[in-house]
Amino acid sequence: MTTDAQFIAGLPKAELHLHIEGSLEPELMFALARRNRITLPFASVEAVRAAYAFSNLQDFLDIYYQGAGVLLTEQDFHDLAMAYFRRVSADGCRHVELFFDPQTHTDRGLPFSVAIDGLLAGMAEAQASLGITSKLILCFLRHLDEDAAFATLKAATPYLGQIAGVGLDSSELGHPPSKFARVYREARARGLKLVAHAGEEGPPEYVWEALDVLGVDRIDHGNRALEDQGLITRLAGSGMTLTVCPLSNLKLCVVDDLKAHPLKRMLDLGIHATINSDDPAYFGGYLGENWTQTAKALKLSRAELVTLARNSFAGSFLTPAEVATHLAAIDAYAVANP
Ligand code: ADE
Ligand code: ZN
Repeated sequence: MTTDAQFIAGLPKAELHLHIEGSLEPELMFALARRNRITLPFASVEAVRAAYAFSNLQDFLDIYYQGAGVLLTEQDFHDLAMAYFRRVSADGCRHVELFFDPQTHTDRGLPFSVAIDGLLAGMAEAQASLGITSKLILCFLRHLDEDAAFATLKAATPYLGQIAGVGLDSSELGHPPSKFARVYREARARGLKLVAHAGEEGPPEYVWEALDVLGVDRIDHGNRALEDQGLITRLAGSGMTLTVCPLSNLKLCVVDDLKAHPLKRMLDLGIHATINSDDPAYFGGYLGENWTQTAKALKLSRAELVTLARNSFAGSFLTPAEVATHLAAIDAYAVANP
């Protein structure tokens, strides 16, 4: 009998909620600062890590946007992506749908092309050298206005064939999904998939808006949906995927204790939840750690782990044939590793 950690490591998994800028490890931050002749406001890698004590989402975002300032060239974005893919490949991850925040970079003067060209190069290399497939999701920063989101979508026009969808991230409270209704309509008209962070810190009404006003294909986080019985019924009944991030929730004080995390309750309610890392360099664990720590804290059964792995591919933007291939691999693995 394998241990849970061994079982999880071998289980084919997808990651559907990963901010690539949130995979910037302090070591790489210092290396890029040196390469780009940038002075960091920290004396050492240890000092950076010591600053990662957050009491809410905004605490984290302030330091996360500051960290992204070392990313200046296509090579930097490529190296960032490859470091992430190498790390997550070791966790048994087969497919990633990664977010990037173009406005974080264009607002400090980088051309739109720098981040996306570097990331696309890293994604192609990861597929060739590690066998990991990936798709890119462009996130709008919700603390900025909708006109800025429209400008970002316009800048992305030459790349629309290489972007799977759009998302909505950054400070949730006070910035409801409905603020971006028009730009989401435009993104849908352009054939893009739609996702949005909702119910991480924001109320259940934001999850309703993401569903009914934006028409999203997936909800990122969604924790607070469990406060509303009607929403639970809607999510479970429609088979909506939630990209849940347990260690992120712990670090940002969305939950007090992993043992009290709502993931198991979501599964019990028939909600299609998945496990993801969000910003692994800041929250203390990549995909594998999120799985093993959550499985232990919530005493998840092997059957529940298999369901979570199946949900991760079923909720992806892969084609039905690609999803079927991954699901068959999961089922074969489960039979071979009872
Ligand atoms: N940007 C990066 N991580 C985020 C999170 N967890 N919530 C909102 N915006 C983010
Ligand atoms: Zn996120």
